[in-house]
Amino acid sequence: MEKKLTFLGIETSCDETAASVVQENGDGTAKVLSNIVSSQIKEHEKFGGVVPEIAARAHVENIDFIIQKALDKSRKKIKDLDGIAATTGPGLVVCLHVGYNIGKSIATFGKKSFLPINHLEGHALSPSIENKISFPYLLLLVSGGHSQYLIVKDLNNYKQIGTTIDDAVGEAFDKTAKILNLGYPGGPSVEKFAKLGNKNSYILPQPIINRAGCNLSLAGLKTDVLRKSKNIRSNQDKYNLAASFQETINKILRKKTEVAMNKFKEEVSNNSTKSFVVAGGVAANETLRKSLKEISKKMSFKPIFPSKEFCGDNAAMIAWAGIQRYRKKLFNKKNETVRSRWPLDKEAPFLKGPGLKL
Ligand code: KG4
Ligand code: ZN
Repeated sequence: MEKKLTFLGIETSCDETAASVVQENGDGTAKVLSNIVSSQIKEHEKFGGVVPEIAARAHVENIDFIIQKALDKSRKKIKDLDGIAATTGPGLVVCLHVGYNIGKSIATFGKKSFLPINHLEGHALSPSIENKISFPYLLLLVSGGHSQYLIVKDLNNYKQIGTTIDDAVGEAFDKTAKILNLGYPGGPSVEKFAKLGNKNSYILPQPIINRAGCNLSLAGLKTDVLRKSKNIRSNQDKYNLAASFQETINKILRKKTEVAMNKFKEEVSNNSTKSFVVAGGVAANETLRKSLKEISKKMSFKPIFPSKEFCGDNAAMIAWAGIQRYRKKLFNKKNETVRSRWPLDKEAPFLKGPGLKL
C-alpha cells in the first residue's frame, strides 16, 4: 500500500493562529491528528473587529508554541512529516507573512516540501476531511470576508457562479452584532440572542433577490438593521431584530441556493449524486444548516457540512489541501508570495464598486 502522507498545516490569515497535523486515510478523507486554534477574541473585542497590526503581533507571539503543541499532540516530529502547508492568501498581508515565514523556514531546515495554500481552497476542501465527496460539487462558501457559490470541478478547478457584490454574510452578522451591541465575535452572538427573539417581528429588505442570478447583496439589509435599531426600546426589541435579521439571511440564502442549484444542474449534466457543500465560519450557524438542508431536499441535492471545528478558520483544512495538492503535484509555486486577494476562479468578474450593473 502507498505511504500515507502526513502534513503540518499553518493558518494565520486573519485572527486565528492555528496549526494542525493531518494524515490522509487513503480513501479521499483524512485523519486529523491535532487541530490547535488560538483565537484572538480578547485582543480585538474592545475594537469590535480585527486590527491587522494587533493580529500580526499576536501571531508572532503564539505561532511557535501553537506549532509545537500541534506536533506534540499528534505525536509526530518534523522528520515524520511529508510536507508543510501554510496559508499565503487571501487575507491580511501582515498576518499571512507570519505563517508563511515560519512554514517556509521549517520546511527549508527540515528538508521538506513547502506548499503555499489558498485559504479559500482550504475551506472549499474542508468537508472532505470527514466525508467522501466526488467532484464536481456545488459549494457555498460563507465566511467573514467571502460569500460565493462555486462549482468545484476538481482540485484546482473552480468556477464561480455567484458572489456578494458588497458585504460578505459573516460580515453582515458581525456588523449587525455591532449595531445591536450583542458582543464579539458577531456571528455566534447574533445566533445566540436570536433564539430569544421573534423572527417575524421585523420585515427587512432582501436586495437583488429576484435578479442577478445567485449573486448576493447584503449592504442594504445591514443599513435597514441600523435604521430600525434607532427605535429599539427594550432588550426584547433587540432580540427580535437579531432574529429577524438572521431569518432574512436564511430567506436570501434559500432563494439564491435554489438558483445556484439550477445553474449547477444546467452545467453539470450527469446522473451521479449531486452534493451541496457549505463551508466557512457562517456554516456553523444552526438555523442556516437547517434551512439549507430543507432546500437541498427539495432540489435533490445531498447537503454536506463540515463539523463545526472545521467551519471557522483552522489549519487542518490547510494541511489537507496541502496533502491533496502534493499528491497531484500541484505545488502552487507561482503563488508563493503572500497576497491579500487570490480568487479561486481567476476568470470570475470582479463584482464590486460603483457603477456596477447586474
Ligand atoms: O471562515 P471564518 O472563520 O473566517 C474567515 O475566513 O472570514 O469566518 C468567520 C465569520 C465571522 O464573520 C463570524 O461572525 C462568522 O463567520 N460566524 C458565524 C457563526 N460563527 C462564525 N456567523 C453566523 N452564525 C454563526 N454561528
Ligand atoms: Zn476563513
